[in-house]
Amino acid sequence: MNMRDIIIAKRDRQSLTDEQISFFVKGVTDGVIPDYQTSALLMAIVLNGMDDREMTTLTLEMASSGKQMDLSYIEGVAVDKHSTGGVGDKITPVLLPLIASFGVEVVKLSGRGLGFTGGTVDKFESIKGFNVEVDTNDFRQYVEKSGMVISGQTPDLAPADKILYALRDVTGTVDSIPLIASSIMSKKIAGGAKGIVLDVTCGSGAFMKDYDMAKELAEAMIRIGKLAGRKTVAVITNMDEPLGRFCGNILEMQEVLNTVTGKGEDDVVEVVTELAYHLITIAGKDAGMSPEVLRSEIKARLSDGSCYEKYKLLISSQGGELDPYGAPVYVDRPFDCMHVNSPDAGYVQSIRTDLIGQASVLLGAGRLKKTDTIDYGAGIGFFAKVGDRVERGDSLCALYQGENSVIPEERLFDAMDLILEAYEVGPEKPVKKPSILGVVT
Ligand code: URA
Repeated sequence: MNMRDIIIAKRDRQSLTDEQISFFVKGVTDGVIPDYQTSALLMAIVLNGMDDREMTTLTLEMASSGKQMDLSYIEGVAVDKHSTGGVGDKITPVLLPLIASFGVEVVKLSGRGLGFTGGTVDKFESIKGFNVEVDTNDFRQYVEKSGMVISGQTPDLAPADKILYALRDVTGTVDSIPLIASSIMSKKIAGGAKGIVLDVTCGSGAFMKDYDMAKELAEAMIRIGKLAGRKTVAVITNMDEPLGRFCGNILEMQEVLNTVTGKGEDDVVEVVTELAYHLITIAGKDAGMSPEVLRSEIKARLSDGSCYEKYKLLISSQGGELDPYGAPVYVDRPFDCMHVNSPDAGYVQSIRTDLIGQASVLLGAGRLKKTDTIDYGAGIGFFAKVGDRVERGDSLCALYQGENSVIPEERLFDAMDLILEAYEVGPEKPVKKPSILGVVT
């Protein structure tokens, strides 16, 4: 077997055999296939696709290219959640303590932010002392202590995906449903989950720009999950505007605190409730409640203190500081350094969320390169969201920076220009999209 024949087979629209896929993934992991051949095959997959069997084999081969976690110590079905990314996505820090309040134990591996999507690990790192580099051997201890643990991705989990993703990033081969689906599912399977709930974001701030594409990706991942013996559900959520009122690390964690104490924004609460519903159900912790009762019980736990208690436990068990009133202590303090005002009167029609994400990176809240440092206090607060009425000169957004950082003036102005380009204001009140666009099971 050789790579040239495998590339030619995919170029000629053939289905690759399991042996060919296995040969490819092992060769990539061992570093024996040159990047030009790997890239050629990736491009052939982008152009000619893969069937379900090929996608599943690719997923399982990538999942077994490194260490696979054994979560058999978790009580009930081990579940995991993944989001395809967005702007203002602060779901995981709310979701973990929320489902923990129902007895769902979770080991959550999360990434750092790169490009315009934020990373959950960075958000937790904005709490003083919070340790996100937990040794995999200690996960069980944390789960026994608080019912949950959150940690950065370990390098030995699905290493083939890491190598392939880095190449895809620079060869124009990211946008491919089989490659995205197998990349995501390989990490979830290697992470030991038996039940997987996917938040497939859809809109200008997401990989999948329209509903049909998002549904196609969701269905591909569900089919992989089924063939791989994992119960999988996908919730398609709106990313045609930022989620909640803030993006940026500390700003989002402040919004998390509001949400776990019953003062969350409607869109955040809707998304978190839907994801929690599926995770609790798959984990078998729904205690026989009907869907309506379970959903209202989930919302109740956001406001009755149960979720907040678990949130504090999560923070303290991983070394994070809480003040005497139970609020997290952050590594910096955000302050608003500029407002962006509406040039017109009317209703906010749409917000190009990718541009908002880029503006947030310019302010220092995210990274363009892996090695960039971030300003934990930087970010954007949204006064106006889709459907809101604004008058000329009203503030659309506030730009924030951390007290410990200085944003060069030209970056502030570039961010402001991006935000002005992102906001479309028009005379008619638009129909606002729901936060949950669909559920695929
Ligand atoms: N997220 C991933 O983990 N992989 C992809 O290919 C795209 C998004």
